[in-house]
Amino acid sequence: MTQLLITGGAGFIGSHTAVVLLEAGHNLVVLDNFDNSSPEALRRVMELVGSEAAGRLRWIEGDIRSRADLQRAFAAAPAPIEAVVHFAGLKAVGESVAEPLRYWDVNLSGSRCLVAVMAEHGCHTLVFSSSCTIYGFPEQIPINEMAPVAPINPYGHTKAAVEQLLADVVASEAPELARWRIARLRYFNPVGAHPSGRIGEDPLGTPNNLFPFVSQVAVGRHERLTVYGRDWPTVDGTGVRDYIHVMDLAEGHKAALDVLLAEGPQLLSLNLGSGQGHSVLEVVRAFEAASGRSVPYEQLDRRPGDAAITVADPSLAAERLGWRTRRGLEEICRDGWAWQSANPDGYDSPGSQSSG
Ligand code: NAD
Ligand code: UFG
Repeated sequence: MTQLLITGGAGFIGSHTAVVLLEAGHNLVVLDNFDNSSPEALRRVMELVGSEAAGRLRWIEGDIRSRADLQRAFAAAPAPIEAVVHFAGLKAVGESVAEPLRYWDVNLSGSRCLVAVMAEHGCHTLVFSSSCTIYGFPEQIPINEMAPVAPINPYGHTKAAVEQLLADVVASEAPELARWRIARLRYFNPVGAHPSGRIGEDPLGTPNNLFPFVSQVAVGRHERLTVYGRDWPTVDGTGVRDYIHVMDLAEGHKAALDVLLAEGPQLLSLNLGSGQGHSVLEVVRAFEAASGRSVPYEQLDRRPGDAAITVADPSLAAERLGWRTRRGLEEICRDGWAWQSANPDGYDSPGSQSSG
């Protein structure tokens, strides 16, 4: 049993990872300011894992940019925090173009503040949520970790900057005195939901990303999907992505933590993806099959800033973590639909509040 701090643990990926880590027997303190999430997600995590494991979860409402809030989170743990899984951050590409200062503040300054407070507490183990967005327009598919880091928007710049900050921290230590154990996990496209349908992705406003939009069309919140592009050099002219089930991603975090805690100081940089690409129209068809609903769409021109294909080479993660994805597109759509159909308006759906 390890005492962990999970920043952003109420969010989409954080809540699913919290389930996996509680089920693995760990103690968690979640620090979240609920800027893009709801405490209801954490109540449902507790309900899913059962009362014994639920007793090992605490949460603090606070901001990673605040030293005082971070100190409160460290003080809330019943035992010294041994490792941090750092999800807290802002993630919308378009918003990052409009509000770059906010993105640099939360994503970079927040991470810097977290690392400084960790060091004060003698906690040197960190798993960081990075993104395949740092590769920009990839030159080679599948993308491996040696590909150039060349982000093309402010969100991507902040992720690349935090990756650099972490590399600099590791490099600052003399090898014989090294303490930091850091994993920079570069996610491809996380989608789907817990198979119970109790927790899932709950984007504020109109979703920008494909999956939540498709599932909101299926449930009747939007009339039709706009498919961006019909002339990409792909199987059917639409963009191809590497969609990863959020439960596979959650298990990838557990695997990374296990490796960091078992091995010595190091800096890991790993792609977390399936290695499989699916086009937009393949996703639409798979979602229709899983939901039994039709997903009408219209095809427009390409979306600015999109790449034709992004697919991970996940072999390094398999080698270093002994981890690979286990769930395919069918399961992604089935579990995504279980969540969307039971919670048409996300955590605000009528009658959706937990009783506990
Ligand atoms: P999310 O928005 O659902 O979760 C982020 C959580 O962080 C939310 O609960 C939010 O309230 C919290 N948060 C935001 N700012 C905070 C702050 N200043 N202090 C404390 N908490 C704060 O997003 P997610 O999809 O779960 O993503 C988690 C992480 O993974 C993010 O860092 C994101 O950039 C990264 N990532 C996500 C994707 C994706 O497509 N979902 C892809 C690659 C990387
Ligand atoms: N798409 C549509 N219609 C939509 C939304 C998306 O056709 O309404 C298409 C896009 O053009 C693209 C594919 O669906 O071909 C996937 O788009 P998403 O917006 O779901 O995901 P992206 O791959 O564009 O990128 C997102 C974030 C990146 C991040 C990446 C992986 O914007 O920053 O997920 O996590 F790196």
